[in-house]
Amino acid sequence: MTTTNQAIQVDGDKLMQFVFRAVDEVGATLNTALVVMGDRLGLYRALAGAGPLSPAELADRTGTSERYVREWLNAQAAGDYVAYDPDSGRYTLPPEQAVALTDPDSPAYLPGFFQIALGSMLDSPKIVDAARTGAGFGWHEHVHDVHEGCERFFRPGYNAHLLADWLPALDGVVAKLERGALVADVGCGHGASTILMAQAFPNSTFAGSDYHDGSIETARRQAKAAGAGERTRFETAPAAAYSGTGYDLVTMFDCLHDMGDPVAAARHVHGTLKSDGTWMIVEPYAGDRVEENLNPVGRAYYSFSTLLCTPASLSQDAGLALGAQAGEARIRDVVTAGGFTHFRRVAETPFNVVFEARP
Ligand SMILES: C[S@@+](CC[C@H](N)C(=O)[O-])C[C@H]1O[C@@H](n2cnc3c(N)ncnc32)[C@H](O)[C@@H]1O
Repeated sequence: MTTTNQAIQVDGDKLMQFVFRAVDEVGATLNTALVVMGDRLGLYRALAGAGPLSPAELADRTGTSERYVREWLNAQAAGDYVAYDPDSGRYTLPPEQAVALTDPDSPAYLPGFFQIALGSMLDSPKIVDAARTGAGFGWHEHVHDVHEGCERFFRPGYNAHLLADWLPALDGVVAKLERGALVADVGCGHGASTILMAQAFPNSTFAGSDYHDGSIETARRQAKAAGAGERTRFETAPAAAYSGTGYDLVTMFDCLHDMGDPVAAARHVHGTLKSDGTWMIVEPYAGDRVEENLNPVGRAYYSFSTLLCTPASLSQDAGLALGAQAGEARIRDVVTAGGFTHFRRVAETPFNVVFEARP
């Protein structure tokens, strides 16, 4: 036993275990910036499938400085992101890391996850200030890495699950979309989900909305570039006041918990849906009790929630601040307070849970 200057009895071995765990975590925290660096400079893409490369060869292929690249590679090797061969002095990107770090079509694609984490950290001094007073900090106030990182983080999951699992899990919705339905994608951000649905269901029309005008401009541009410009329209509007009525389907992807007044949003969805319409709510995976979320996924989500979701909600009217780990019971309360009589969980992945609400 060791006695500290505060006369707290501590187990010296456990203390050092915790210190070494923290060393690992500081390395991992700094790696967030290094992954974004590798993504931006094209280092992972140049390594993918290239076989063993020396720092000079990698720098040459990417038009970067050999000295920086050598240091970056050593940090990547120490974290098992690349493999180092001491005999040749060369570095290889293993195939699994190559997929996760360079293939935007893979559900395992990671650079967006790191980009939104980096953006969250860049803005964290503002959250420290806000935590003193309880003030909010709006989604629209964040650096661009938060907005773009969010899109790049979520899109692979939507590509993998939205058409294959989530929409088919809703009662009768795919048949309506195939025939021709009117859909509102609320809190759509850069419109990744709106565009994916518009490409899959050419007889349907999609109205994306978000309160952040910068995101809506990007969504419009990306829909046009994806050839989905004609069947999509985008407007800057809060969830409690988007335009139109008679929707067959309203979707909300990872945004209900970010809203200040999700009950007002739920009421508006109720008022704009057809009587036989469906509201699909995609939320971060979470259990109802804190102890159910004390795991790596819950840790990441509680951390994003502290830096992004909770301040976003607190910045808006009502400021209910559900948090990213709200859990099914609280989402159900919001939905039923909005006038819905039917609510059920229809699908889940390790990262998301999907609910169906009907009037
Ligand atoms: C985590 S992002 C998700 C964006 C998008 N749905 C996606 O899956 O990529 C949350 C989004 O909710 C939007 N948002 C927050 N509060 C809102 C509100 N009251 N009304 C409409 N959109 C809101 C933000 O602007 C942001 O685009």
